[in-house]
Amino acid sequence: MSKLSSTLYLCLRFLVFLNTISKLLFAANSRTYPADIQVLKDLKHGVDHRSIAPGSCLSFWDFSLDPCDNIFTEHFTCGLRCDRIVSGYARTLDVSDNSFSGSIPDSLSNLTRLRRLGLSRNSLSGEIPVILGSLSHLEELYLDSNHLHGPIPSSFNNLTSLRRLEIQQNDISGEFPDLGSLKNLYFLDASDNNISGGVPATLPTSLVELSIRNNKLGGNIPDNIENMRFLQVLDLSHNILSGSILSVLFDHPSLEQLTLSYNNFSYLEVPGDKGLNSKLIALDLSYNKLRGFLPAFMASMAKLAALSLEHNKFTGMIPAQYALKAAVPRTNTSSFERLLLGGNYLFGPIPGPLLGLKPGSAQVSLADNCLYRCPDAFFFCQGGDQKSLVDCKSFGPAIP
Ligand SMILES: *[C@@H]1O[C@H](CO)[C@@H](O)[C@H](O)[C@H]1NC(C)=O
Ligand SMILES: *[C@@H]1O[C@H](CO)[C@@H](O)[C@H](O)[C@H]1NC(C)=O
Ligand SMILES: *[C@@H]1O[C@H](CO)[C@@H](O)[C@H](O)[C@H]1NC(C)=O
Ligand SMILES: *[C@@H]1O[C@H](CO)[C@@H](O)[C@H](O)[C@H]1NC(C)=O
Ligand SMILES: *[C@@H]1O[C@H](CO)[C@@H](O)[C@H](O)[C@H]1NC(C)=O
Repeated sequence: MSKLSSTLYLCLRFLVFLNTISKLLFAANSRTYPADIQVLKDLKHGVDHRSIAPGSCLSFWDFSLDPCDNIFTEHFTCGLRCDRIVSGYARTLDVSDNSFSGSIPDSLSNLTRLRRLGLSRNSLSGEIPVILGSLSHLEELYLDSNHLHGPIPSSFNNLTSLRRLEIQQNDISGEFPDLGSLKNLYFLDASDNNISGGVPATLPTSLVELSIRNNKLGGNIPDNIENMRFLQVLDLSHNILSGSILSVLFDHPSLEQLTLSYNNFSYLEVPGDKGLNSKLIALDLSYNKLRGFLPAFMASMAKLAALSLEHNKFTGMIPAQYALKAAVPRTNTSSFERLLLGGNYLFGPIPGPLLGLKPGSAQVSLADNCLYRCPDAFFFCQGGDQKSLVDCKSFGPAIP
């Protein structure tokens, strides 16, 4: 035997030895809790087997081996991780990204130690089982991109360990339940559903990212959004929200990205501090019914780099501060990398500082307004003619 192969041989012997020792040490612990095995069997049998593609995770579950006894064998159970501390219990179950159809079995609630449940991007249908609200250790729940319908169970307010909830891209309807007890929830995405009612006033104050884009939420934004001191991303676009865009969103201590486009807002409140303390980097209020002059305070928001006010009913002249923030590099504050003002009733001349703006230096659009002259030679005038005099006069008789 060469030196190399004898070393290999010794290594192999050592691994076999380790395996034997570990089996002795963990033998009592590595058995899966029987109720958990039953749940996994129910799950596999509940799924329409025509939807279990060969090579997909569930196709490997044959239960000839103990599902949790996978630490030192190659027969690990795909999609399953077991708890090493409270041994024998399923800790993570993730069978996302398959094409499984069928409904979510109630028996999943028997996986009492589950921390993470991932069923994303399948074809699951039916309602979200109310009894999932009893999984008191659950920290992450992914049900997104399925065909689930019915309401968000109010029992979810019992999931007090929950940190991340993703239910986007389903057919979920009904109103938002009270989720105010989820003191650890920092990420909630319920976008692309059919959720109605108002923006819930009882959302957890721990949220950092909240997205309920593309639903049927109506009414106003509740002013206690101010209590979400950690919120950085808020996307409520593509709903039917109306009333005022509250000033608390413009002097919020952490909000960086606010997207309220495609709603029915008509007013905008000016913050007391004129936006000087705003942390906003990107603000999209396009496709609403906002009226009045362009709010000057938005040019004094130090971090704001992307502003879209397109397709509203703004009028008046373009403030010089806007043009300066887009055209003149700043040392201490952000310039506008994006300034979209098209589709309003802005009039008067193009502000001087913009005239020297080079294509590519910033994304700016002034198309479809009532500007005195906006020739296509300027890149920011392209993408649509100015409105006709008749349209402009009928909107605002004072427009020259
Ligand atoms: C949980 O497991 C027990 C024992 O196996 C069983 O009787 C019960 O029906 C299960 N619960 C659900 C909701 O399936
Ligand atoms: C939620 O908690 C309440 C009170 O703590 C309890 O009555 C209810 O049964 C729980 N629901 C579920 C689904 O666990
Ligand atoms: C959405 O919900 C409304 C009731 O609020 C219902 O009439 C409509 O059919 C639902 N749409 C879809 C696509 O489920
Ligand atoms: C939008 O608001 C206007 C009033 O500003 C109201 O007449 C209209 O019904 C609202 N549309 C929707 C879809 O709520
Ligand atoms: C730049 O900003 C810092 C803190 O935001 C401030 O202390 C400093 O005075 C500013 N400098 C200038 C030149 O404005």
